[in-house]
Amino acid sequence: MTIIACQDVSLQFKGDQTPVLDHIDLQVQKGEFVSIIGKSGSGKTTLLQMIGGLLNPTKGDITVLGNVITEPLTEITYVFQRPVLLEWRTVLENVLMPIELKKRPNQEDRNKAKEVLALVGLADHTNKYPHELSGGMMSRVTLARAFMTEPEILLMDEPFSSLDAMTKEQLQLELMKLTDQFSSTTIFITHDITEAAYLSDRVVLLGEQPARVVKEFQMPFSRLRPKKLKYDPSFIKVVKELYDSIDGLGGSSS
Ligand SMILES: Nc1ncnc2c1ncn2[C@@H]1O[C@H](COP(=O)(O)OP(=O)(O)O)[C@@H](O)[C@H]1O
Ligand SMILES: [Mg+2]
Repeated sequence: MTIIACQDVSLQFKGDQTPVLDHIDLQVQKGEFVSIIGKSGSGKTTLLQMIGGLLNPTKGDITVLGNVITEPLTEITYVFQRPVLLEWRTVLENVLMPIELKKRPNQEDRNKAKEVLALVGLADHTNKYPHELSGGMMSRVTLARAFMTEPEILLMDEPFSSLDAMTKEQLQLELMKLTDQFSSTTIFITHDITEAAYLSDRVVLLGEQPARVVKEFQMPFSRLRPKKLKYDPSFIKVVKELYDSIDGLGGSSS
């Protein structure tokens, strides 16, 4: 079942001579994990913002859950590149924020927040404040908060890009488990090709400006992949194919 559909979508910013994105066609199925890769400035964030209803296309339609999207929906959770936490709130209180937008959290909500925090390895840190956390822990809080509402659709814009390699690897595993557990349909932007291949059912490559979808790659691996898949020849082959396709775009790489 198609959950997200971009049909011949273009976006041109006011005052620009050419569109950033043009003739974008993309469909995402229920429960699918799709990564978008492409050079820096190719329009990945812009595309995600349109799918999230934060920005409207100049041409074409984006349909989410059966309706043309014009504003953010409660079924969509958006995760930004930098963890956005409120400094004066504890980890637990930060994770409860999406609930507070709807109602006053009760004991059940607090228990759920603790459960989700345990899933991301923060069971012992629920009463800490953001300034007491490492970058990896902040990203974990962001993940826990994103899953607090059991999102039907999750849009993530380079959420792990500022983390060290080991922390990133751990969070990739946690994200894989969480999206599986909550059956969230996910669009994930990254400039890390290995990360895209490791996490995704499908990887979508955006081309040069005006960008369109130049190629899509189905990842031939089952869900819930072990870390060691990254050393498997079949995985390395897929990653090489992705690299070669990006190189084939020409221009400077990012
Ligand atoms: N609000 C905006 N107004 C004008 N130009 C923008 C705006 N946001 C992004 N752009 C331009 O659109 C292009 C794509 O940006 P972006 O979507 O952020 O790329 P990416 O996420 O792939 O790095 C860039 O050239 C950028 O400068
Ligand atoms: Mg971006």
